[in-house]
Amino acid sequence: MIVIGGSSSRDLAKELAMLLECKCILASSTRFPDGECYTRIEGESLHDDVVIVQNTYPDPNIIEMLLIQDAAKRMGAKSITLVIPYFGYARQDKIFKPGEPESAKVMARHLGIACDRVITIDIHKEDVLKNFKCKAKDLKASGAIAEYFMDRGIDIVLAPDAGAAARAKEVGVKMGLPYDHLEKVRLSGTEVRIAPAKVDCTDKNILIVDDIIATGGTILAATQQLKEAGAHSVYVACTHGVFTGDSIQRLTGSQIDGLLSCNTLESKVSNISVAKTVADELRKGKKGRLFRKN
Ligand code: R5P
Repeated sequence: MIVIGGSSSRDLAKELAMLLECKCILASSTRFPDGECYTRIEGESLHDDVVIVQNTYPDPNIIEMLLIQDAAKRMGAKSITLVIPYFGYARQDKIFKPGEPESAKVMARHLGIACDRVITIDIHKEDVLKNFKCKAKDLKASGAIAEYFMDRGIDIVLAPDAGAAARAKEVGVKMGLPYDHLEKVRLSGTEVRIAPAKVDCTDKNILIVDDIIATGGTILAATQQLKEAGAHSVYVACTHGVFTGDSIQRLTGSQIDGLLSCNTLESKVSNISVAKTVADELRKGKKGRLFRKN
């Protein structure tokens, strides 16, 4: 097996290759003066099973991913597994208003054209995977998050909204802790209202888990609500730290006691690694050749 890291996911690719004890090649990707992507995989050939690790966010990474797939195929890759740590456009998974595209479906239909298998991590809605023409599987970051916060004095795991309730349950069960979710109403792209928690928060150390933090509006509102309800501390962990604008600064400068994300998107708070979760899945494929198309 050979792991190829695209420019969005170099550290994760290196860690993955280390765990799998295989070669890692970092695609050398640059931009032409007009902004177009140039990428190259060093070496003569790739006669092995190839794993490409690359995000589809922000948009330029999509082009790089398609080009790396083509280069790997031309270099004789026996099979190509695409690991998409953060699958962009996943939140537009249905038509909310007439005239909109189903962006998540469009992405899935086009991204997997030259590969044999796709692996995503905590994709916003798993149904999107049905649109890939090859096999596709979503892995959960809950194990990595639970492991990170184990023995750190957390009393309860909460999701900031009903959509993330299953995630809080996964983490809570793994940590042997109670879990619940808050009720959120989205007022605009950046503003949300969170209803008071149903559980008693007095003097509790709370871990909020979510799939994505973008503007940070959801997490700020949830934290404020929990602190007003008497929480002793509020820690926040998300899988994908999109962190638009100055949201990291706003979040770390707020009442939040600790902010962490997984390394699906690399940032100064992406200290929870999903490499082991992905490596375990890839090892299964290696033994059973599960990823071959029939
Ligand atoms: C929503 O469905 C997601 O799970 C997140 O809660 C949301 O994307 C967070 O966005 P923001 O940080 O902008 O509030």
